[in-house]
Amino acid sequence: MTRKKLIAGNWKMHGSLQQNEIFFKDLLSMSENLSKKYNDFYNHLELSLFVPSLYLFQAQNFLANSAISFGTQNVSNQAENGAFTGEISAKMLKDFAAKYTIIGHSERRQLLGETDEFIAEKFFILQQNDIIPILCIGETQKEYEESRGIAVILQQLNAIFANPKFDKNNANFVIAYEPIWAIGSGLAATPEQVQTTHLAIRKRLQELNADLAEKVKILYGGSVKPENSKQLLNLPNVDGALIGGASLKANSFLAIAESIF
Ligand code: 13P
Repeated sequence: MTRKKLIAGNWKMHGSLQQNEIFFKDLLSMSENLSKKYNDFYNHLELSLFVPSLYLFQAQNFLANSAISFGTQNVSNQAENGAFTGEISAKMLKDFAAKYTIIGHSERRQLLGETDEFIAEKFFILQQNDIIPILCIGETQKEYEESRGIAVILQQLNAIFANPKFDKNNANFVIAYEPIWAIGSGLAATPEQVQTTHLAIRKRLQELNADLAEKVKILYGGSVKPENSKQLLNLPNVDGALIGGASLKANSFLAIAESIF
């Protein structure tokens, strides 16, 4: 089975109504050109943008009639709407047609103290609302240097897989491996490092269920740029990329997408 690549842009806390409008217009016209250049373009990949929640409505307005999906970078851990000041529920994201939502990004783990258990609550709430969670995992520089990277990410995964709510027949989730030391550093992990870690993740999925392991996408994130994307995206077990800085301009985002061809 070939898994379609997911080329996902995480805008983080960037954007404005005006900048986004320019981005979406560029994205629509440039992606249309690409889909003419490669006539089975969307059979090979899916493009997706993760915008700050406030701009989800704008993303929906621009992208709803296109092949490009969209979502947000976070969701509340509360299943039902209620007295949770400042929070945004999965039901609200669904109202604006979010297909995916990123959870457990290392910036939220580190800056806001999000724990594996808290992230697991979000994972299951998203699945219950038919939104596909993109679960971010990754080790720190220190853990990497101490050769504990794989143990750390397997533990992060286990917070989901060992949860009684986990359904090993439900392949509606994506894993994004983002080594923290590679995020925003300009220095991506090497193809060898990426391959080793992605293989360990795939094997862990196989232990759960062979069919699930065939279906679940494993993305790489951390300084993915047009200059290194061809090498990274064509590795076995790399089913796409989660792109920060290079997703803020339509041309660099799409140059990364084009590198799979
Ligand atoms: P950069 O591509 O800017 O390194 O960010 C990666 C990332 O954190 C995506 O979620």
